[in-house]
Amino acid sequence: MTEPVVEVHLTPADATAALRADVRAGLTGQPKWLPPKWFYDAHGSDLFERITRLPEYYPTRAERSVLVARADEIAATTGAHTLVELGSGSSEKTRLLLDALRRAGSLRQFVPLDVSASALRDAAAAIIADYPGLTVHGVVGDFTEHLALLPGDQPRMVAFLGGTIGNLLPDERAKFFGSVRDVLDPGEWLLLGTDLVKDPDVLVRAYDDAAGVTAEFNLNVLRVLNRELGADFDLASFRHVALWNAEHEWIEMRLRAERAMRVRIPALDLEVEFAEGEELRTEVSAKFRRERVTAELADAGFELRHWWTDEEGRFAVSLARATG
Ligand code: SAH
Ligand code: AVI
Repeated sequence: MTEPVVEVHLTPADATAALRADVRAGLTGQPKWLPPKWFYDAHGSDLFERITRLPEYYPTRAERSVLVARADEIAATTGAHTLVELGSGSSEKTRLLLDALRRAGSLRQFVPLDVSASALRDAAAAIIADYPGLTVHGVVGDFTEHLALLPGDQPRMVAFLGGTIGNLLPDERAKFFGSVRDVLDPGEWLLLGTDLVKDPDVLVRAYDDAAGVTAEFNLNVLRVLNRELGADFDLASFRHVALWNAEHEWIEMRLRAERAMRVRIPALDLEVEFAEGEELRTEVSAKFRRERVTAELADAGFELRHWWTDEEGRFAVSLARATG
């Protein structure tokens, strides 16, 4: 059987150096924060897959329903030879796009990129087994840094699904759209999944499920810090918090210290104090409206060609063309 090529732009040593820098910046800041990319070790990636199957977590099902309805139209419009997928995770929904591009006769290469080496390798192996003849070129990398070297025959379509764009802060988002535009030539494509603004109760439930899987996912970042940096976070002393921030129109996940404590992080030679009730922000998940998506894409040099939502109007998939 053909093996997938997996290129490593982010070695374990690079990842550890980046983690150290992020943890120092985030835990010495006020209020404390951590970037969400550190959730996704092998266990965190598994927990995310469990989240996608929870009754409260509608985004995966809603996005899938749009792709089921529109994949053939996406394939016909783009004629893509290469499908690049950023933050690819398990690449499950992506199969709908691969199938449609194959039906259209244009598909040559699939390039999944993810910071999680385990998720990337599993997904690349599964896809290559199920799509004989397809060149699969996986990249272990950070989509905020490693886009310049993406391989693949043109025309390319870059898919960024799941609403992961919402996990970037507004300035990071603008920079990200700009760097995607920089690697594309005019006429190439971006397929973007965005979760939409809706009833805050529905949103909060999606991030605070009854079975507690999202709470486990949130706490997993502390497990990563304990393992990678020798930290001594007591996970039982932190509680999962999910809230709607109406001003920014994003969900925030936080970890609340249930007691005052001092945490040691030997790899950074750092001790961090938590007051009782103090909250550490671990993720934002921005929710969008059509006007904002259109404007941010236009600012980066993309023209929105299609905006499709699921029947209940919960989640949108946009197809945008690089202008110039
Ligand atoms: N696209 C999939 C997975 C979404 S989960 C879906 O729609 O279901 C978010 C994925 O993005 C995870 O696999 C995570 O490892 C990856 N990720 C998060 N931050 C990243 C970064 N900065 N660079 C590359 N991948 C990242
Ligand atoms: C990957 N990302 C789009 C998810 C989200 O919904 O923001 C991550 C997640 N966090 C909690 N649940 C799921």
